[in-house]
Amino acid sequence: MPVVLTETRGRVAVITLNRPEALNALNDELMDALGEALLRFDADDRVGAIVLMGGPKAFAAGADIAVMADWGYMDVYQGQFITRNWETIRSVRKPVLAAVAGFAFGGGCELALACDVIVAAHSARFALPEIKLAMLPGAGGTQRLPRAIGKAKAMDLCLSARVLDADEADLYGLVSRVVPDDELHGATLALAERIAGYSLPALMAIKEAVNRSYESTLAEGVLFERRQLYTRFASEDAHEGMQAFLAKRPPEFKHR
Ligand code: HXC
Repeated sequence: MPVVLTETRGRVAVITLNRPEALNALNDELMDALGEALLRFDADDRVGAIVLMGGPKAFAAGADIAVMADWGYMDVYQGQFITRNWETIRSVRKPVLAAVAGFAFGGGCELALACDVIVAAHSARFALPEIKLAMLPGAGGTQRLPRAIGKAKAMDLCLSARVLDADEADLYGLVSRVVPDDELHGATLALAERIAGYSLPALMAIKEAVNRSYESTLAEGVLFERRQLYTRFASEDAHEGMQAFLAKRPPEFKHR
């Protein structure tokens, strides 16, 4: 069986991590396949949003410890561990939604954090337990988690390996929404469909601007946002959206 399954449903692409026997542990084969699928859907005009999901027991239980256990410094340095296939996620311009049930531990939690929206099932559990291995969260966890939930909570999670349940994760702002397990797929797909129905260049501009807020001063970020806003006035879709509102009719976006 392929370690990553893909399908499209209307304008939504669905990528499913498929190593259930190892709780979707993230080895190079899986990360390469994930990166390839993300880039393929990002380039596909028929796709407006991408959903990333795992299985009912685990979204992903982290980097593959069985593989990492044998690596030395030069294996990761020369092999460009993380850089080689994790950085792909950052380059995706369309909205990516994570649907998380079960364990999102270590790299699995970091993978969810790299997505734009996280929909969590009640069974979802989030942790960065690398400290138990005398490792550290190395796929963005020490950087994205404090930005997502603040330093106090992030330090607690990283230093103690504490596990957050879905409600705590929601309370802390780590996830976007929490839904019952049997509604996770349907709710995430419905949300993705709704998002994919909007104008794609506007979605991409919003994603870029929100992400810029993590990487710039407020003044620079506001300036970036203003440039994106001005660009909207060069967009047929924005004129269509406003005209449709005034005419009290649904918009027909050209660039979806
Ligand atoms: C390799 C893993 C794995 C992992 C689970 N498995 N997590 N294999 N790497 N990260 C395997 C187990 O060895 C086992 O294989 C099978 O999946 C089922 O797991 P169990 O432990 O039997 O399940 P359970 O008792 O329900 O416990 C679930 C769990 C536990 C709490 C999630 O598996 C666990 O603690 N996993 C490790 C979590 C972790 O430390 N993640 C961080 C990794 S470091 P067998 O063959 O025995 O059935 C990391 C670094 C990130 O992510 C930075 C770089 C990307």
